Formats: sequence, structure tokens, C-alpha cells
Amino acid sequence: MKGKRILLIVGGGIAAYKSLDLVRRLRERGMSVCAVLTDGGSQFVTPLALASLSGQEVHQELFSLTAEARMGHIELSRDADLIVIAPATADLLAKAAQGLANDLASTLLLATDTRVLAAPSMNLRMWLHPATQRNVATLRGDGMLFVGPNDGDMACGEFGPGRMAEPLEIVAAVEAALAGNTAIPLPMAQSAAPGPLAGLRVVVTSGPTHEPIDPVRYIANRSSGKQGHAIAQAAAAAGASVVLVSGPVTVPDPAGVETVHVETARDMLEAVEGALPADIFIAAAAVADWRVGAALAEKLKKGASGPPTLGLVENPDILATVAQAARRPPLVVGFAAETEKVIEHAQAKLARKNCDLIVANDVSPASGVMGGDANTVHLVTKDGVETWPKLPKQEVAQRLIARLAALIKESGA
Ligand code: CTP
Repeated sequence: MKGKRILLIVGGGIAAYKSLDLVRRLRERGMSVCAVLTDGGSQFVTPLALASLSGQEVHQELFSLTAEARMGHIELSRDADLIVIAPATADLLAKAAQGLANDLASTLLLATDTRVLAAPSMNLRMWLHPATQRNVATLRGDGMLFVGPNDGDMACGEFGPGRMAEPLEIVAAVEAALAGNTAIPLPMAQSAAPGPLAGLRVVVTSGPTHEPIDPVRYIANRSSGKQGHAIAQAAAAAGASVVLVSGPVTVPDPAGVETVHVETARDMLEAVEGALPADIFIAAAAVADWRVGAALAEKLKKGASGPPTLGLVENPDILATVAQAARRPPLVVGFAAETEKVIEHAQAKLARKNCDLIVANDVSPASGVMGGDANTVHLVTKDGVETWPKLPKQEVAQRLIARLAALIKESGA
């Protein structure tokens, strides 16, 4: 998320003080923050505080001579990778839903096609009012993302939904939004129409595993977890109840997914077995094939006897184990990470690991897949091979989930 540009609109609510902390948290993660302060917002925090924390000029005026001369207020939102409204007041949401443009914040929201993430903050009656709920539904339909509001004690003395999400929750939603996840669940999401995987349980593995050599060293690989996490997120957005078993990664846990964190291949197998039975198992993790047979309890020291020999033993194959289990999920999907003869190797894995489908990808350094944001995959089944164009990992995930939903429907499961 380093280098991403956030345009932060601070609306007029008591939660505006938390937005000052939000600015720090975003900047700690290497993002730059340009702030827009509404008239209401300036009643709660000062432009000076925002400017000091963001290290940038704070914008307040719609018709500002200097801004018009230098770049024009519209450029403000076009330069951003994501617009965050925190606090998003009932008034700001109403204006955005109506397409009003009578101050800087509302004009920016109307003049942009940049994705917007709103962190609502208001009295619970205002939040629950049909007018606000209508506006939120409209904005969601237009593609606006939401984080919170949370339940809790409110500054006005009441208790209920309306408290702005905490800064770190907003940061996680910002990271998810920047990663392209559009499915940040709303409190109202439960009432939405059931998705194609509603009522089904999906278990996904993701990320690398770390296999200890001694207390300070381990064997690992370059997997980022981006693809597996995107798949878990897409499955949840399709209505499934999802358990994500993740190796050590830096990407955030997807919203609405039960995430179990593990280190080693053996831990991953145990967590997966604990999560079964399931309707669909998707093995997207880059599991280390080998571990050190006898990992040392103390740090390995250099010595006269020269470099040590690491006695490697093979790790359990999680995918093959699940695909052979008595409780085999009806749909078992594996990945094939290859650097040559991608399809040939994937076809061999399909048979060897008893899978229904293999998602094959080229992970040679030139492909940029490992750690990157895009993927070119081939779907390999016993019926043939289908090659998809190069797509963002989020889109690969959504398409894959749509395909699995169709397969489940066809099989009448
Ligand atoms: N996999 C697994 N457990 C392992 C190794 C791999 O569950 N111990 C799964 C991966 O999650 C992936 C599939 O098996 O879905 C294929 O992984 P890949 O690394 O491509 O293949 P390998 O099994 O390691 O085979 P090879 O060494 O021939 O590449």
C-alpha cells in the first residue's frame, strides 16, 4: 500500500477527532493523505491539526482562487487512489446520494470516478432512519464502500449503531479497497439477496508456509496470499460461510471471513481438517514441500565443522489428503504453480491429487505473479483447458467463484 494516495474528507461529527489518528495510521503505512475539511468538520478539528498530521495543505473552499489556478479542485479527487469519508455524516451521505454539489466535499464526490470508502458516524436514530438507509442503499448500488458504523456508546449518551469504525478498522478497509475488494460487508448486507454460494461452506488455504530451521530461521517462499485471500473474500461475497487458513502474510484478513493463522504445513493441514466438512475446498496456498526433519531448539552456530546439512523431509500434501479423505468435499480445487510446461504439469497434478479442477499459473520471475496484483491462469479439468486473459487477482477470484457456483449447481449438490 506504500505510495498510495488517499483523499480524506472529514465531515462534521464528533468522531472527526479519530480521523486525526487515521491520518497517522495511513501515513505509517506509507500512504499519503490529502485532507478536505467540510464546514461542519472544522467545528470539531482544526485545519492546522490536519495539515500538521498529513504534511499537506488542507482544502476547505469550493471556489478557491489559488486552488483553481494551480490545479482545480476537481483534480484533487482524480489524483487519489481512494477517497475516504470519515466521519461520513448523514448530511454528506444524503448529498452524495442525491448528486448535490454545493460545497467542496460533495463536488469532489460527484466529479470523480475514484472508488469511495465511507465510515459513517451519526446518532443511531439518524443512521436507522429510512432516509439514511435509502441513501446508503443508493450509494452502495453506485459502488460506494462502507466500513461500520459500529454499535456502541455514543457521544450523545445513547447506545446503538452509529459509532464510527475505529481508525485501524478503517485502515484495514482502506487496504482491502485498494486491493480491489469491493465486498466490504455492510451491517445491512444480511438483508441482501442470497448469493450463489449461500448456505455452502468453503475452506480456502492461502499464502506460504514457514518451516523452521531453528528458532530464528525458516524455509519460505514468495507467495503473498493475495490470490487466496481474494478467493476467500469472493466466496464470502457470494454468500458462503468461509474459513480461510492462512500462512504468514502481510495482506489483511478479508472482512466477513473466519481466518485461521498458521505457520507450517503441518499446522495448515490440522487447521484445514478442523474446518471440514465443507462443500468446496480451494488449495491456493504455496505450501512448502519440505521441512527440516529435526528443527533445532537453539540457534544454529557457525563452527569448525563447516556449513550444516539440513536434513529435509517431505511435508504432508494438504490438497491430496483432503481429496482422498472420507469426508472429501464435493468440489476440490487445487492450484499449480509452475515455471515451465504449465499445462502439462497441471494436468498431471489434476490426476495425481484427485482434484476436480486445477487453476494453473506460471510463477516464473518474468510473469510477476508471485507477490504481484495480476494473474494469467488456465483452468484445467478432465474435460479440457480454458485460458483466461491476464486479470487482477480479485477478478480471477470472482470469476473462479462464479464458475464453482455454476459447477455446484450443475451437479445438483
Ligand atoms: N499443496 C498442498 N500441500 C502441499 C503441497 C502442495 O496442499 N504440501 C497444494 C497447493 O496448495 C496447490 C497444489 O497442491 O493447490 C499444487 O501445488 P504446487 O506447489 O504447484 O505443486 P506440488 O505439489 O508442490 O508439486 P511439484 O513439486 O511437482 O510442483
